[in-house]
Amino acid sequence: MPRISDASVRELTSDHPLEAQRVTVRFGQVTALDGFTASIPRESVGLLGPNGAGKSTFIKASLGLLQPEAGSILVGGLDSRSQSLRIRDNVGYMPEHDCLISSLNAVELVSYMAQISGMTPRDAMQRGHEVLDFVGLGEERYRLIKSYSTGMKQRVKLAQAIVHDPSLLFLDEPTSGMDPQGREEMLDLIRRIGLADKTVVVSSHILQEVERVCDYIVIISNGRLIRAGKTQSLVAGEEGVHTLTVRGDVRAIESYVRSMEEICNVLERKNEGDMQASLLVSGCEDGKAIFRLASERGIQIRSYRPEKLDLEEVFLRSFEGESKDGN
Ligand SMILES: Nc1ncnc2c1ncn2[C@@H]1O[C@H](COP(=O)(O)OP(=O)(O)OP(=O)(O)O)[C@@H](O)[C@H]1O
Ligand SMILES: [Mg+2]
Repeated sequence: MPRISDASVRELTSDHPLEAQRVTVRFGQVTALDGFTASIPRESVGLLGPNGAGKSTFIKASLGLLQPEAGSILVGGLDSRSQSLRIRDNVGYMPEHDCLISSLNAVELVSYMAQISGMTPRDAMQRGHEVLDFVGLGEERYRLIKSYSTGMKQRVKLAQAIVHDPSLLFLDEPTSGMDPQGREEMLDLIRRIGLADKTVVVSSHILQEVERVCDYIVIISNGRLIRAGKTQSLVAGEEGVHTLTVRGDVRAIESYVRSMEEICNVLERKNEGDMQASLLVSGCEDGKAIFRLASERGIQIRSYRPEKLDLEEVFLRSFEGESKDGN
């Protein structure tokens, strides 16, 4: 079996095995993660966001494959910059793009990965067959990977990610390129892994998929956290989202919005003529501060009421936010 230190096992099974604090990653002029903060619970977690949102960047940074310019990521209490080798002992990774050695067959590849993780050749071969059975790859496992369909490759990618029985699993767009039946089967496998007391982080831009298999959802757009919460609460709109209508001078409204951004998440802003704006806000723990800041800035609050959102709407709003920012 893989060599995993007791300490890392204990840490990875804590309540929040993955913690990102104000992580920024840039590629030249492109800011892929922009002060991204998230606390991932020990559940099946969907990392949901449109193309280019920063999902893959976050996964790679968590694995230590990319170095953030600022901020930190703790994986089971281990720092992604300096302890990535220890992290990888107990973490599985299914990359978005092809990562397979096409001149091997699936048995060779998966048992090779098992040996790298520290198993004896004999154990590795047995475990390789077990995980290939689990992902539903039949006799094709003896054919060279270069002859596989996309769906078969996705299954092998999943198999190599779980061969060393990790506690934390990153699946980057696991259903990508699969037909409807293949997608169903992949989602079913992910659900089964999640039930086995693992933390599974699944990135996707398909809301319905994430909603079906994940207990917790983190929505990311433009490298920033948009919303995070239990799937059920997000769907039911129970987690403190309010609509706030304010009236005042344009500059005062501007200054008010900036000060609001310090104390809560301003999810959306709509100007309603020159003197009025409607804001969608969440996470305002101190409700009185909303009114205090308004009075300090000479702003009148016209209404402040809870807003029920469905997840579809939240996700669409995050797309709208992206086009507004123009990057
Ligand atoms: N190696 C790289 N060099 C330059 N830019 C990059 C690189 N990797 C990612 N980016 C940019 O960083 C941003 C975030 O990319 P990322 O791949 O993390 O997004 P994503 O959410 O995974 O998107 P998708 O759904 O398309 O996979 C994008 O603007 C992307 O073009
Ligand atoms: Mg990606």
